[in-house]
Amino acid sequence: MKPEILMMGPMMPHVEAALDEACTVHRLFEADDRAALLAEVGPRIRGIATDGGRGAGADVMGQLPALEIVSCYGVGTDAIDLDHARERGITVTNTPDVLNDDVANMAVALVLATSRTLVANDAWVRQGRWTGEGNPPLARSIRGRKVGILGLGRIGKDIAEKLTVFGCDIAYHGRSRQDGVSYEYFDDLTEMARACDFLVAICPGGPSTNGIVNAQVLEALGPEGTFINVARGSVHDEAALVAALESGTLGMAGLDVFAAEPQVPEALLKMDNVILQPHQGSGTVETRRAMGDLVVENMRRHFAGEPVKTPVG
Ligand code: NAP
Ligand code: 8YV
Repeated sequence: MKPEILMMGPMMPHVEAALDEACTVHRLFEADDRAALLAEVGPRIRGIATDGGRGAGADVMGQLPALEIVSCYGVGTDAIDLDHARERGITVTNTPDVLNDDVANMAVALVLATSRTLVANDAWVRQGRWTGEGNPPLARSIRGRKVGILGLGRIGKDIAEKLTVFGCDIAYHGRSRQDGVSYEYFDDLTEMARACDFLVAICPGGPSTNGIVNAQVLEALGPEGTFINVARGSVHDEAALVAALESGTLGMAGLDVFAAEPQVPEALLKMDNVILQPHQGSGTVETRRAMGDLVVENMRRHFAGEPVKTPVG
């Protein structure tokens, strides 16, 4: 008999097809009455297929007494109750490494797009200002500018390498200095922001990073500074970010993630010193396919009694 699993939200067609073949899939997102579905199938569910946004909370996992594995489409596990999983011996898997390149590319794209005012200049052409008013104000070069990376992990290191090629001077902040890393280390985030032209957030979300990019950090980054967030919206204090951009305390921002996705503060939508993306860091056909393959592979291995490929923790 096939193992029964719960799918928290829609997944890529090839992922859904592969999971349907290997498992009996109950789609929580399609249920008119989620409580009734959980009451009916909950005792038989052995796996959860989810993504980084929906995760798996103790509210759902608590109703699945036979749960063995949570396979997550995404590397960030901040929406999964890892303590609950650990206490019950539930395996959690995610999709590290396969997305490094594209998420790093998004960070680099936002650094370039903000420094070269790409979106505002696009509007300049479309709105006829080029013919009417002439050239737009000059942009800024990124060569020789200092970029502070908040979270020099798998993706952070990739961002650092790519921006080094563009001539940027890299620094980083994390909870500790890393052996074998030659970039300048700051043990204080505000001090790093003060020393930098760009602050790029690529650390995990969750309690330890909640709102760490606060008003003080943004003020330290300053009116000529740019904040890029490709990590999680919870990492920045969104009210402070809006206020800093409105007052000019902070120069620009490039944001792929927000505190209450897909809601974006109205004020940000009206600012031309901000470039916004709908959480698309890993959003390429190639990377999403690789992530989906890992979700399936982890689930398949687990139910075949083999070690999973990418366990969390
Ligand atoms: P990783 O390899 O685990 O790296 C995380 C880094 O963050 C580490 O260098 C770690 O250094 C640092 N860190 C952890 N807790 C910290 C804290 N409290 N304060 C400061 N630094 C801290 O993770 P990754 O694979 O690079 O992914 C990073 C995150 O990117 C994910 O968790 C996810 O939230 C986000 N992400 C976003 C997208 C997107 O589409 N925008 C896509 C993929 C991932 P220390 O341990 O030394 O502190
Ligand atoms: C995904 C992400 O878009 O991997 C992550 O942590 O944020 C992104 O790659 C997300 O997990 C899908 O919901």
